[in-house]
Amino acid sequence: MSKPRVLLMHLILDPGPAILAEAAEVVPYPSNKPLDQENIRQAADGCFGIVSHLKDPIGPVVLSTPGLKCVSNVAVGYDNIDVGTATANRVMVTNTPGVLDDSTSDFAFALLMAVARRIVQADTFTRQGNYKGWEIDMMLGTDIHDATLGIIGIGRIGRGVARRAKGFAMRVLYSDMNPLDPDTEQQLNATHVDLPRLLAESDFISVHVPLTNETHHLIGAPQFAHMKPGAILVNTSRGPVVDEAALVEALKSHRIAGAGLDVYEREPAIHPGLMGLHNVVLAPHIASATTRTRSEMSEMAARNMATAVRGGKPPNLLNPDVKTK
Ligand code: GLV
Repeated sequence: MSKPRVLLMHLILDPGPAILAEAAEVVPYPSNKPLDQENIRQAADGCFGIVSHLKDPIGPVVLSTPGLKCVSNVAVGYDNIDVGTATANRVMVTNTPGVLDDSTSDFAFALLMAVARRIVQADTFTRQGNYKGWEIDMMLGTDIHDATLGIIGIGRIGRGVARRAKGFAMRVLYSDMNPLDPDTEQQLNATHVDLPRLLAESDFISVHVPLTNETHHLIGAPQFAHMKPGAILVNTSRGPVVDEAALVEALKSHRIAGAGLDVYEREPAIHPGLMGLHNVVLAPHIASATTRTRSEMSEMAARNMATAVRGGKPPNLLNPDVKTK
């Protein structure tokens, strides 16, 4: 009997391909086709499943492909997928939670440090032959130790950032609709506050919420107006959580001191106003990009799909109603 077909939108890392190939006939997405819903739907014709990346728009057009039963996203975030429509159409949706938490927390901290201590600027300065000798006022930055860190969203990654902050003797504030239990708060040395207080008191602000209707532009002009003039914003969550035009304005007017960004409002496009600013460190959405983590994400996504192909309930099913109804 022939195996069900699965559309693989992009490369995944070992051991993902072998796990998928054992369960399904893997069909690669044509590399010359733009990533729009019509093209994806055409490519998914006759497929049981799609292994997608966060840049693939999986909306109603794709989700009405006859016979489609599962979409396995190689990411923890799944705002590229219309899960409501998937559930209505009885299509399972899975993601890759957990395996990328520490790499992403590491990277948020790396951005924070890079901006505070002007690492990228310093590297460019030095390479360009500008270092002519030690100067007392050269490349002055901001202290990280003893500073106040505000964490917006205290899920697994936010908690990872709080754990790292402990090693730098930082005071940690956090805002979240679901406060931590008192034991965890104590372990992390973190204090629950509302967003206005977090914005007003933090030297560093790191964003760790998923993108939803509620978090779209959670940080915009009114929030920048609340921040300390020396504040540094770090975003490794999703671009549209921050109003990018307002961020450019806040940076240009020195309303805040700097930003470290891994995500953008209209990826892969980046607001032109960010490009020329020296107080910003820009990364191309690589917070989870370590060899080990990307391989674990690939494996997890492949296992989710392979389980679905075999008629089981994938371990990271986001819409369990599809299986129980
Ligand atoms: C990366 O941004 C992810 O959601 O995994």
